[in-house]
Amino acid sequence: MDLGIRGRTAVLSGASRGLGKACAFALAREGADVTIVARTRDILERTGAEIAEATGVKVTVVAADITTKEGRSAALVACPEPDILLNNADGPLPGDFRDWSRDDWIAALDSMMLAPIEMMRLTVDGMMTRGFGRIINIVSRSVKIPQHELGLSNGARSGLVGFVGGLARQTVARNVTVNNLLPGIFDSGAQRAHIDGMLAATGKSFDEIWRERADANPAKRYGRPPELGAYCAFLCSEHAGFITGQNLLIDGGSYPGTY
Ligand SMILES: NC(=O)c1ccc[n+]([C@@H]2O[C@H](COP(=O)([O-])OP(=O)(O)OC[C@H]3O[C@@H](n4cnc5c(N)ncnc54)[C@H](OP(=O)(O)O)[C@@H]3O)[C@@H](O)[C@H]2O)c1
Repeated sequence: MDLGIRGRTAVLSGASRGLGKACAFALAREGADVTIVARTRDILERTGAEIAEATGVKVTVVAADITTKEGRSAALVACPEPDILLNNADGPLPGDFRDWSRDDWIAALDSMMLAPIEMMRLTVDGMMTRGFGRIINIVSRSVKIPQHELGLSNGARSGLVGFVGGLARQTVARNVTVNNLLPGIFDSGAQRAHIDGMLAATGKSFDEIWRERADANPAKRYGRPPELGAYCAFLCSEHAGFITGQNLLIDGGSYPGTY
């Protein structure tokens, strides 16, 4: 299937590693030029070179923190009129809400809710004027299945999906869609950091927890980042203009409900 996005421009934050990188790769394979944003320059540059060499598209790298005004501005200087926007950044570490300060909550909101909303504010009107836009937020299954140890994610990400539910219905008539991807367990950096954060409380080894989490999933494995990248690329395709405002699980069937 030709996704019809050859020559489109995409700006993706959190795209030097893991799920964001997989999305950048998938879009680049379809011929979209990609601007990738992350904070650690050397890893970002390596990823940029890898994508450019494998796909031949134009790849621009922006070393910046997307949770800051300066970072968002740098991303959009590099890609002023994106057709595709992927919002992604670090998730929170596990913990007990009794230990979290107001500053912890503000940082979580900045990363998981306010930065994506600001990037949408800065790009959505241009997309509507041009008659094409695809916005994807990498969120988490935590908005459908509260994760006991991830209160910051349960809370802040729910704010984002609540906002998107309203926005998505106001842009789709101009062929601008907004959807949220809800990963379950994936074999990428955030999963490893999450398990590292559970070691002290459980007294288990990393490998034990890693295996237990895979065994508890109906697919008996972790998701592979390219699987999420391909889903993202389809949602960004010309064929996906009638899909908007959706919270789309990609979790090996771990969400236990029928609907
Ligand atoms: N993996 C899973 O199983 C899973 C499940 C549910 C939800 N999620 C969520 O999905 C997201 C991605 O997870 P992942 O496993 O792909 O993580 P990852 O492998 O650690 O990659 C995170 C990427 O985001 C970049 N990044 C982080 N904070 C940033 C910031 N403030 N500004 C710009 N770039 C930033 C990182 O680069 P720098 O550090 O260099 O900036 C890196 O490129 C996270 O929010 C995570 O919580 C993951």
